[in-house]
Amino acid sequence: MIIRPLTVFEREAVRNFYLALSPEDRRKRFCCSLSDETISGYVDRLNFTRDTILAVFDEQAELVGLAELVRGAEAGEMAFSVRPDKRGRKIGTKLMQRLLLRARMCGIEKVFVLFLSDNTPMRRMAVSAGMALSSVDGEARAARELPAPSAEELAHWFIEEALSHGGYFGTLGPVDIHRMRRVASKCG
Ligand SMILES: CC(C)(COP(=O)(O)OP(=O)(O)OC[C@H]1O[C@@H](n2cnc3c(N)ncnc32)[C@H](O)[C@@H]1OP(=O)(O)O)[C@@H](O)C(=O)NCCC(=O)NCCS
Repeated sequence: MIIRPLTVFEREAVRNFYLALSPEDRRKRFCCSLSDETISGYVDRLNFTRDTILAVFDEQAELVGLAELVRGAEAGEMAFSVRPDKRGRKIGTKLMQRLLLRARMCGIEKVFVLFLSDNTPMRRMAVSAGMALSSVDGEARAARELPAPSAEELAHWFIEEALSHGGYFGTLGPVDIHRMRRVASKCG
């Protein structure tokens, strides 16, 4: 399993992942029912530079989970989604751990996640991560403050980042660098 932050080149992979979710899973992820069009618009607006979109890939380099960290004025908002057939294997928990470290690396001092109040896996994940629970307009909210990372954690982060990018592209085989450059110039 490889966990790494996605780049702007991978927007379509995020779109396909969310569009493949059932109506019920969309409701759990976004706390409301969303059409294909709305999800697509949401993905178009994702900011891969300012925010963090972490992805989990399986051994075949298939995307099986996403976690997002969106910077806000007061706190960073996190959100999680694991492909239904891969749930219950601690993938969500690992995404949470990596996203919390990422938030600390970015200097974010507080994070929160919103979810439907009957969402037991999300609630358990939040409690395991030391988050405090409250209720907002019938939805659940979990939040916690984050300490600055230690030198050891910083080193650990850089090593994991390098290994995950290397591991993923090693799984894919040769990458068409010219195509990536063409896409990059259009994103300018
Ligand atoms: C929430 C979600 C990301 C969790 O992913 P996951 O990979 O299944 O999570 P984990 O395997 O790490 O399990 C997390 C906790 O939930 C528990 N859990 C997992 N599946 C469960 C289930 N069906 N019923 C009850 N508890 C469950 C696990 O035991 C674990 O708790 P523990 O650490 O106390 O043992 C996943 O269920 C999901 O994608 N849900 C739809 C989207 C969503 O709800 N997002 C949250 C709002 S942003």
